[in-house]
Amino acid sequence: MAGRVEGKVALVTGAASGLGKAAAAMLVREGARVAVTDRNESGARQVAGELGEAARAWSLDVTREPDWERVVDEVLATFGRLDVVVNNAGIGVVKDIESISLEEWRLVHAVNLDGVFLGCKHAIRGMRKCGAKGSIINLSSVAGLVGVDNLPAYCSSKGGVRLLTKSVALHCARKGYGIRCNSLHPTFIETPMVDDLASMTGDKAAGKARLARMIPLGHIGEPDDVSYAVVYLASDESKLMTGAEFVIDGGTTAM
Ligand SMILES: NC(=O)c1ccc[n+]([C@@H]2O[C@H](COP(=O)([O-])OP(=O)(O)OC[C@H]3O[C@@H](n4cnc5c(N)ncnc54)[C@H](O)[C@@H]3O)[C@@H](O)[C@H]2O)c1
Repeated sequence: MAGRVEGKVALVTGAASGLGKAAAAMLVREGARVAVTDRNESGARQVAGELGEAARAWSLDVTREPDWERVVDEVLATFGRLDVVVNNAGIGVVKDIESISLEEWRLVHAVNLDGVFLGCKHAIRGMRKCGAKGSIINLSSVAGLVGVDNLPAYCSSKGGVRLLTKSVALHCARKGYGIRCNSLHPTFIETPMVDDLASMTGDKAAGKARLARMIPLGHIGEPDDVSYAVVYLASDESKLMTGAEFVIDGGTTAM
């Protein structure tokens, strides 16, 4: 049986680590060729090397428009098409509104929101250039749906991603491009980002147990809990979905 995304070409940002790495791997397993991109070039190369022939690495800092221009053009030249862009790269600064600096606020928004804006803009350019009926998948968070006291910039940027996604979805639909755009809203997932969060009080295991208690299902997620949603949204199985929010949160926002 053919893979669920057989023949498609996907570009994943922040794919040297965590959710991006897992999504790139599952997309390859399901038949896609994948541009593994990250600002950490050696990390991207290592992941692409592990994934074999179907993957190639690119250095891409999502905050830099010249990087987007170059990489989208090179992906089209290398693979001949671009069907899927996963705007996954993101960072967090754990400081409440009284302690976060303007510089930190701007840095979080530069990566999490400007980066997704540029990713959507250049995804549409690349998909239209090759005539693809594409899918743009934006990583927001449960923190883009509900507030978290010590994550003001993260919440603001991820809330922005949620509505940017809907605007892009409606624009593409009205233009008749056949390009869809949806957002993903995971809770805590086992990645280096959550390791850092759990380690903040010194005891990582205790930190993870504390995070798990915040999730009604009682445990932190695995990266593939998100990768399955990425593959679904990347595939034609989700052809009626656009401007939607895919919540993967163990019941967190049901409370
Ligand atoms: N892990 C979670 O619990 C969780 C929950 C909800 C949402 N998310 C979101 O999922 C995405 C991935 O998170 P993760 O946990 O895998 O994080 P991670 O820290 O493990 O990986 C993030 C990757 O992004 C890259 N990156 C950072 N800044 C970049 C930039 N300017 N340009 C290109 N690449 C850059 C890093 O080098 C790294 O490889 C993020 O957007 C995050 O906010 C994560």
